Amino acid sequence: MRHALLASSGLTLSQGIALLYLLAAVLFILGLKQLSSPKGARRGNWIAAVGMLIAVAASVPKLHATTTGIVLIAVGTVVGVVVGAVSARRVKMTAMPQMVAAFNGVGGGAAALVSTMEYQRLVATGGQGVVFVFTVVFSVVVGSVSFAGSVVAFSKLQELMTGIPITYAGQKVVNGAVVLAILGIAVYLIGFGTSVPVLAVLLVIALLLGVGFVLPIGGADMPVVISLLNAFTGLAVASSGFVLGNTVLIVGGTLVGAAGTLLTMLMSEAMGRSLSNILFAAVGKVVAGAGGAGEAGEAKPVRSGTPDDVGVLLAYSRKVIIVPGYGLAVAQAQHAARELANALEKRGVEVEYAIHPVAGRMPGHMNVLLAEADVPYDQLKEMDEINDEFKSADVALVVGANDVVNPAARTAPDSPIYGMPILAADDAKNIVFLKRSLRPGFAGIDNELMYDQKTIMLFGDAKDSLTKLAVAVKAA
Ligand code: TAP
Repeated sequence: MRHALLASSGLTLSQGIALLYLLAAVLFILGLKQLSSPKGARRGNWIAAVGMLIAVAASVPKLHATTTGIVLIAVGTVVGVVVGAVSARRVKMTAMPQMVAAFNGVGGGAAALVSTMEYQRLVATGGQGVVFVFTVVFSVVVGSVSFAGSVVAFSKLQELMTGIPITYAGQKVVNGAVVLAILGIAVYLIGFGTSVPVLAVLLVIALLLGVGFVLPIGGADMPVVISLLNAFTGLAVASSGFVLGNTVLIVGGTLVGAAGTLLTMLMSEAMGRSLSNILFAAVGKVVAGAGGAGEAGEAKPVRSGTPDDVGVLLAYSRKVIIVPGYGLAVAQAQHAARELANALEKRGVEVEYAIHPVAGRMPGHMNVLLAEADVPYDQLKEMDEINDEFKSADVALVVGANDVVNPAARTAPDSPIYGMPILAADDAKNIVFLKRSLRPGFAGIDNELMYDQKTIMLFGDAKDSLTKLAVAVKAA
């Protein structure tokens, strides 16, 4: 059937496969383009997934597998599809970075193993050249670093281990020595000797580097690290594409590498920190109270209110800006936020949402959540677009957010978030925080805005508070 189709089109099998790969690559690019806006993101995901299906299906005729090999591939495919689909359906939005770390790590590990096996196969036939060995070594090193680093990142985010940076005397020297060992072995393999066991040793040392690289980075910086490791995996996969002579792997890997690199840079910029500061400064080691409103444990008065008090304040406002943060995601409060906004709009109050680029735990976290609750896209305002509007807002309603409105980012040079651009919630006439306590956010630092005279704290779970506020607004 397949051959009949090809024969009628006048194409050879490899030309047919090349065309399908081209189609897959085009779909990847179109999918990525759609992902750049919340409106097209869902469609973009589907387009890229169809591209991936075509790429995988087009690769099947290239397999030189034995019967056992085909059974193994079939079992692997079924297991992969089930694990991927079930975990993607079940994962909570707050646990998405861990999931990306897990999937990304597996991709890097697979690239390293595929290249190792291909090296072993070609060594047996003596057909390996310098360029081939270079790409194998690159793929093994970068893929292994990505795999091991992703395992540590996953463990930190899943709280299987401490999120505090793990540092020890001489750590940089040890990491430096590991890098030198990797370079030495790489030069040996590329220029001088052929040895599968030496390549295996290289793989193990690269795994050690992955662990050593991520251990000193704090849990708060893990999303950036995951994005960087994602870029590494892309490069490792592209490199294994060269090893296997597979165009679609080269294109797909390069796209992942480029997208991961850009995302890493954008996240660093949004946090107001350089990538080297994130990777090497062990930020988060000593943070309690740094640059915040005072020493930890120091009791300071705050003004707290009831849902009825705050409901009246909101109901008689002209303009309310909702600032969503990680706590909104934890509480799954997006629908309750929309309900409150609807109640306010019915009374003629103007409502907008101020979206900080790193609010929550991953890029686009808040957009995705609010889109799920059908919040109109034109009410979602990026930081630069909305910051000037806080001055004219009667209330900045900060829902489960903390670091992204912390003025210490502007005023306290010793603070770990110093330099991070923040939402100007402090410019609003009133600020209302919906959170459960005075505890700090992800960066672990106190927030002086909670103690400001213009601020009212409404303590409680965000979803519960928003629901009560909607009732209070309707009754006002
Ligand atoms: P955070 O500063 O982490 O503050 C979240 C607040 O939510 C906490 O203070 C917590 O206070 C509150 N909260 C938790 N559960 C809640 C619930 N059920 N109901 C109500 N409140 C709840 O969040 P943010 O303002 O969104 O800032 C994001 C942080 O993540 C920044 O430090 C950012 O740099 C970091 N980060 C983000 C990214 C991306 S890409 N998004 C990447 C790297 C790092 P209580 O415990 O008192 O309730």
